[in-house]
Amino acid sequence: MPVITMLSPKGGVGKTTTALILAAELASSGRSVVMIDADPNFPLARWAGKEGRPSNIEVIPEVDEDEIIGTIDEARKRADYVIVDLEGKASARATNALMMSNLALIPIQGSELDAVEAARAFKVVRNAGTARERALPFAAVLTRAPASKRLWPRDLKAVVANLKEAGIPMIPTALAERGAFRGLFSMGGTLAEMTSADVGSLESARENATAFADDVITLLKEGVQA
Ligand SMILES: Nc1ncnc2c1ncn2[C@@H]1O[C@H](COP(=O)(O)OP(=O)(O)O)[C@@H](O)[C@H]1O
Ligand SMILES: [Mg+2]
Repeated sequence: MPVITMLSPKGGVGKTTTALILAAELASSGRSVVMIDADPNFPLARWAGKEGRPSNIEVIPEVDEDEIIGTIDEARKRADYVIVDLEGKASARATNALMMSNLALIPIQGSELDAVEAARAFKVVRNAGTARERALPFAAVLTRAPASKRLWPRDLKAVVANLKEAGIPMIPTALAERGAFRGLFSMGGTLAEMTSADVGSLESARENATAFADDVITLLKEGVQA
């Protein structure tokens, strides 16, 4: 079933966090999800080692660039969704994962520098589409944005305007900067088991996660529109 790959040319933009938020939402609606942790630091495998992993999320660590195609192929045959989390640099592993993907998500934090880095990721995705003679749908995801759009700084708004102008599709729901999203990795499990005693604005984080995942599902169904 659909293979979604998280891609960006640098680390720290929110790939792994976004991957887990999406996986947890899909799992909570009853879907089976295989996450392929293709980052040599294995952040998702470590998350899976903590308590609270839903039984319909499986994490497979796979960093071998030759094996990843087989691993994705095997996973997509049995899971409703496959999510591949890459490390933040170009590699044969990343190229191979893109060959196998139905959608690439490219997280961006809202600064001009991030946007320049992201432009490289868009190029990589377009090249993958050329190589496999079938365009690879992709979309940018704004991460760590101020929760209220009114509080978005000017450079974040400029990045959004530039993406629009360049015809780059964007997931409508931005992921906000939330302690609850950071807490997924320190606490393990998902937003469902967290309590308001653990983190602030939990309900807002849950709503944000659900709206984001709904956008991704819509995009998979309806295709990407710039
Ligand atoms: N939406 C978010 N809200 C709060 N913190 C976030 C969010 N997204 C990412 N982070 C934090 O930013 C850092 C980098 O995120 P991570 O998902 O590991 O990025 P990447 O996988 O691209 O390297 C981590 O400390 C993570 O907790
Ligand atoms: Mg990561």
